[in-house]
Amino acid sequence: MDAAEFRRHGHEIIDWIADYLEHADRYPVMARTRPGEIRDLIPASAPEAGEDMERIFADFQRDILPGVTHWNHPRFFAYFPANNSGPSILGELLSAGLGVNAMLWQTSPAATELEERVVSWLAQLVGIPDSFSGVIQDTASTATLCALLCAREKTTAFRTNERGAVGGDTLRIYASGEAHSSITKGARIAGFGADNVVAVGIDGDRALDPGDLAARIEADLAAGLTPCAVVATVGTTGCTAIDPVGLIGPVARRHNLWLHVDAALAGTAAILPEKRWLFNGLAHADSVVFNPHKWMFTNFDCSAYFVRDPEHLERTMAIHPEYLKTGRDREVTNYMDWGIQLGRRFRALKLWFVLRNFGARKIREMVAAHIALANDFAAWVDAAPDWERLAPVPVNTVCFRCKPAGMTNEDELAALNREILDRVNQAGVIYLTHTRLDEVFTLRLSVGQTRTTAEHVATAWTELQKAAAG
Ligand SMILES: Cc1ncc(COP(=O)(O)O)c(C=O)c1O
Repeated sequence: MDAAEFRRHGHEIIDWIADYLEHADRYPVMARTRPGEIRDLIPASAPEAGEDMERIFADFQRDILPGVTHWNHPRFFAYFPANNSGPSILGELLSAGLGVNAMLWQTSPAATELEERVVSWLAQLVGIPDSFSGVIQDTASTATLCALLCAREKTTAFRTNERGAVGGDTLRIYASGEAHSSITKGARIAGFGADNVVAVGIDGDRALDPGDLAARIEADLAAGLTPCAVVATVGTTGCTAIDPVGLIGPVARRHNLWLHVDAALAGTAAILPEKRWLFNGLAHADSVVFNPHKWMFTNFDCSAYFVRDPEHLERTMAIHPEYLKTGRDREVTNYMDWGIQLGRRFRALKLWFVLRNFGARKIREMVAAHIALANDFAAWVDAAPDWERLAPVPVNTVCFRCKPAGMTNEDELAALNREILDRVNQAGVIYLTHTRLDEVFTLRLSVGQTRTTAEHVATAWTELQKAAAG
């Protein structure tokens, strides 16, 4: 593709994206594709001769697009948001254009130094203390794995890195039963073993109970096991429960345990003065992660990871083969030493574009609007006799179910709500997903798409009532 062709197709594709984002509501939110349907449309082998872009792009529209679930549809209320925005997409495009590998300072000083600045901006915006240093990772799962590796090396005095599984199978991680599956996955990968992830009890709001945490640590010590790390979740995936970091911290400190805070979704809400409390007690933490790629208008992937002791992170991660050594290593940050990957994308660019083009005020307004819409929906559920809310709404997610008068059998209620979920998703106007809270089949509405307005949330409520009526 020469420059002229690139320019022409580039303009066409930008035009297409602009139309798509403006009118994403034309599409059914969730793809209605059957398994294998799209694969069958694509030849089994790559073409020998190059094809022209007109044809490729036409195939994209005809064959691929129908199999896309539209995460940036204004009526996407499933899982959690993964929102995007114009400045973010343009920053991503520039990053692709430059094709930089930001592994070392020297491999692109601007990538490293912009990243240092934008993570510091982020920390200030959400109230992460300035004693923390940040790095952009791909996902919260990776950041949490880094935290568990750091915890392991702290407890085993860096011997596991050198000699293998020094802790044997006795190193313990504590998190509530509501914590994200990335903790168990990280525990497997880092060699703790899933059995050593201790499910700490929760309170009535489904937040980790610090008293139970202390008791479980004591019980493990008495049993000859080695407590290593605590993961507190600020905004659990199921119902956005907020673990009390301020009360968990002293317990972790007392036993010299690593405290990691997973605020993947809800961290963005701390940009609001009235939600700053979400991060109360962060001074006790060793590491914290939150995802601008969820709720801060920055397209996937972009996860911000902050650590109190960057030297410990570097000592855990760094390996310096000759070919990666530079004359500047003592003066600069080499972000390859701050995570698992060697090669790193220039993600700071899109975040910089977002933070500058929106400005903090606009981000606050939009996040506050999402929270208000979630609370409106919660109020409709509360006022409706045949519906029931199943958890508090500290941020953007409402957990609820249909519970017609007189229907008390849990199996029947689960079947009814599963049926409602299938109906609304198949109708394609909105997209919701479910969880289980205390084994109760629970519908969830998560508000956070860039273009979601009051009208879209009202439509969700209407669609649910239609589906419940059969
Ligand atoms: C609380 C929490 N932690 C971690 C994750 C995983 O996020 P990522 O996809 O960035 O690994 C999620 C999202 O599913 C989450 O809700």
